[in-house]
Amino acid sequence: CGIIGRVGDGSALESLLTGLENLEYRGYDSAGVAVQNGSGINVRKRSGKVEELKESIGQPLKGEVGIGHTRWSTHGPPTDANAHPHTDESEDVAVVHNGIIENYAALRERLGANGYEFTSDTDTEVIPHLVQYYLDAGFDSETAFRQAIDELEGSYAVTAMVSGEHVLYAARQGSPLVVGMEDGEYFLASDVPAFLEYTDSVVYLEDGDVVVVDENGVEFTDLEGNPITRQPETVEWDPEQAGKGEYDHFMLKEINEQPTSLAQAIEGRIDPANGRIALSDFEPGTFEGIDSVQFVACGTSYHAALYGSLTLNQAGVRSSALLANEYSVSAPPVDDETLVIAVTQSGETADTLNALRQANAEGAQTLTVTNVVGSTAAREADDALFIRAGPEIGVAATKTFSSQAVMLTLLGQRIASDQRGEPRADTESLLAELASMPGAIADVLDDSDAAAIARRYADSQAYFFIGRGLGFPVALEGALKFKEITYEHAEGFASGELKHGPLALVTPETPVFAIFTGEEDEKTLKNAEEAQTRGAPVIAVCPDDHPAVEAADDHLEIADTDQDLAGLLANVQLQLVSYYAADLLDRPIDKPRNLAKSVTVE
Ligand code: G6P
Repeated sequence: CGIIGRVGDGSALESLLTGLENLEYRGYDSAGVAVQNGSGINVRKRSGKVEELKESIGQPLKGEVGIGHTRWSTHGPPTDANAHPHTDESEDVAVVHNGIIENYAALRERLGANGYEFTSDTDTEVIPHLVQYYLDAGFDSETAFRQAIDELEGSYAVTAMVSGEHVLYAARQGSPLVVGMEDGEYFLASDVPAFLEYTDSVVYLEDGDVVVVDENGVEFTDLEGNPITRQPETVEWDPEQAGKGEYDHFMLKEINEQPTSLAQAIEGRIDPANGRIALSDFEPGTFEGIDSVQFVACGTSYHAALYGSLTLNQAGVRSSALLANEYSVSAPPVDDETLVIAVTQSGETADTLNALRQANAEGAQTLTVTNVVGSTAAREADDALFIRAGPEIGVAATKTFSSQAVMLTLLGQRIASDQRGEPRADTESLLAELASMPGAIADVLDDSDAAAIARRYADSQAYFFIGRGLGFPVALEGALKFKEITYEHAEGFASGELKHGPLALVTPETPVFAIFTGEEDEKTLKNAEEAQTRGAPVIAVCPDDHPAVEAADDHLEIADTDQDLAGLLANVQLQLVSYYAADLLDRPIDKPRNLAKSVTVE
């Protein structure tokens, strides 16, 4: 879900709606705003996208102070009544909330018994009633807000306003909340792109922070009201970067940004003097005492983690990639020589945060690899490594995947060399290839046949992706991307597994994308041919002079590169195939149904 709040001179509505549009990637099954102008609070909310809310507002809502919300349902279906903002019965208090109030049932029962009437199925609705309860008890608004917050258990980012005041109250516990500051105008939001066109000066709130914002400034306090200091930071993204530019979709823009985002990721991180990995983000010898590495991640980040884990194993470091949502039931033992690496582009995924917290509690060393400075995962781990991919708005992750995979490859080399005191023998050539990756990706983008392939195989029954070694996580990612945005059935397999079951699904209507990374390619080719014999068309993703080109029905070309990196070039081809296939089907590519970019619930 996404939150926006605004206080300042002039009308709030436009910045609220812009903010909601910029936050829609966080969830988009319903949206709403509340604005006040001295004569009470006006709420407009409904199921559907922000666009639909905008059209339905009609007469502009007047008022300088307001809050807004875009929702991804957790408690209750996406109906008008369940959309935020939520208010008390008399609309004296309006609230937007992100997260989960775990004790909402008890609070609801207590408030209900006191005569407060509920109109939605949400956990959020207890908050405005609770604030109202304390107002009714005679507390001033700020104290009433603090008292209400004090009673909440669970995770929340909350922003509230009380009728007749030019003030916003906000609190954070476990869900992200950022303050944006401009002269005489202040914002609260779940994420920076919400207000980036108005200000780049931000404060990332921490758990336990409570803020009171009016047009004169922001008061930062703890829950008891003691003042605390929070330093503003300047965000280096510009709004242009956060906008779609010349592209039809953010996803296509972000696929095309990969040469730049990868160059940014590796900039200054490889020591040109001796070809050693610098990663000066870490002190020399940081990883000396690490015996093994566990990656925890979800979705696309899990595929990057799997990629990273395989490169670590190849570099001689014991490692495994684990699904963060399985970690609480199946984590292998850890000790202080275990490094647990949370891989999460947003740094806010609840499943990944839980795994990270468990690792912290059990005494492992922890590290977060993320795109978001100031994110919860970055702050809660012992250390953080930033992938510097810039804002990614498309729900389907693209450039963050390649940057994560590259950073994890570098990190693996660094951990291995810290352990051994020297880099592995072929590090120098790997790093040289790594430095040429941005150019190699640009070549794929300039001259890809992905659009033609997508057209040729449109109307197929299912789409399969196979790969071996580092080609395996790329096959999984190729299939995930494809199903996410086309809604077609797609599956990724380790090449050798195809014959152990999935082959039963293969028909002339099931194209097989075979990824060749230089790791036992002859076996992968044999597996692809086993499918081809059963009538399936095979699309080989490999260099031009590869034997698979002859054998396959179609070809997507990648440069001949180090086997640690070939899969990343193949991945760009597959991203493009998914994009063009989804475009042919006229899918809402940047916002696939039922999905959210950052899932902050378990
Ligand atoms: C959601 C998104 C996925 C993403 C996953 C992990 O499910 O839809 O695209 O890969 O979360 O997100 P993270 O921010 O932790 O990388």
